[in-house]
Amino acid sequence: MQVTELFNDTRVTADSDQQFATDGRLRHLLTLQGIDRKRMTALLDSAERWLSPMGSPAVRSDALQGFTVANLFFEPSTRTRASFDLAARRLGADVLNLDVNTSSRKKGESILDTIYTLQAMQVDVFVIRDASAGVPAYIARHVDDHVSVLNAGESEVSHPTQGLLDLLTIRRHKGDFSKLNVAIVGDIAHSRVARSAAQGLTTMGVGELRLVSPPALAPSQEDFPGARIMSSLDDGLREADVVMALRIQRERIGNLDGIPGIDEYFANYGVSSERLRQSAPDVIVMHPGPMNRGIEIESALADSARSVITEQVASGVAVRMAILCAVTGKDDH
Ligand code: CP
Repeated sequence: MQVTELFNDTRVTADSDQQFATDGRLRHLLTLQGIDRKRMTALLDSAERWLSPMGSPAVRSDALQGFTVANLFFEPSTRTRASFDLAARRLGADVLNLDVNTSSRKKGESILDTIYTLQAMQVDVFVIRDASAGVPAYIARHVDDHVSVLNAGESEVSHPTQGLLDLLTIRRHKGDFSKLNVAIVGDIAHSRVARSAAQGLTTMGVGELRLVSPPALAPSQEDFPGARIMSSLDDGLREADVVMALRIQRERIGNLDGIPGIDEYFANYGVSSERLRQSAPDVIVMHPGPMNRGIEIESALADSARSVITEQVASGVAVRMAILCAVTGKDDH
């Protein structure tokens, strides 16, 4: 059976308690929902240890020697897949990157049979990206007790390691979350990045979270409790300390009616130096990537001193090292 047949309700989400072992240890990372501030802070602190200045050798360890990490990406990825691969290797793990396009899933093998096959080869951690909601949680329910599942991007629902790397990047620049106005701009409705960022920022006590989008790409308030949903970019950027631009998730939008064309979109919702004039003088600009320059973000701004986009990428490796250590019980290394 194809796993997508099991998930007719695209709003299926993980039970956040499912992430924890009976002794309270983090066993899986499926969502940031249910990760409290103390644990989130500890994960960010742990990630700090794996950062090194750009140009200096990457920090390494043998903490995961003897462990095997399998990357199963059923949707395209550059940053998340590469950073999980590097994170696992820098910790001394064996890494398997399954090419799903040439795997036996193309011959009709179910995802669970694929998982059981790799589990028999002593995979300890599965890193899963899938276009269907609920897949990481479904796999987590079926793996052996010693095996962990990490959500590397799940439909529009969740991208928890992205949320953590965004928090780490913001914390390194701004410190206290409670004083910050954070604006997320773009296709909020279809964005797992926005959902995980909002969960993380809310847990960390962000001052104000603004979600700015054209009406056709606005989220429901129910999905973002406590956030201000706005359609005016100028209102959203006023006195903002952190601005995160998001691309339009065309692969998740069946009907593009009501979505502005490129020029109109950039004119009204493109984040640019000019539009940031009302923001805080030390505003930082973020983007999870991949970027569409000249659509959701001005190209020169993406490369400017305000941009922390490449720092987000570096934070991604560190956060994934911290998570791999946490779920394998090696977070004291
Ligand atoms: N931010 C992010 O998830 O990028 P990739 O799709 O390249 O992994």
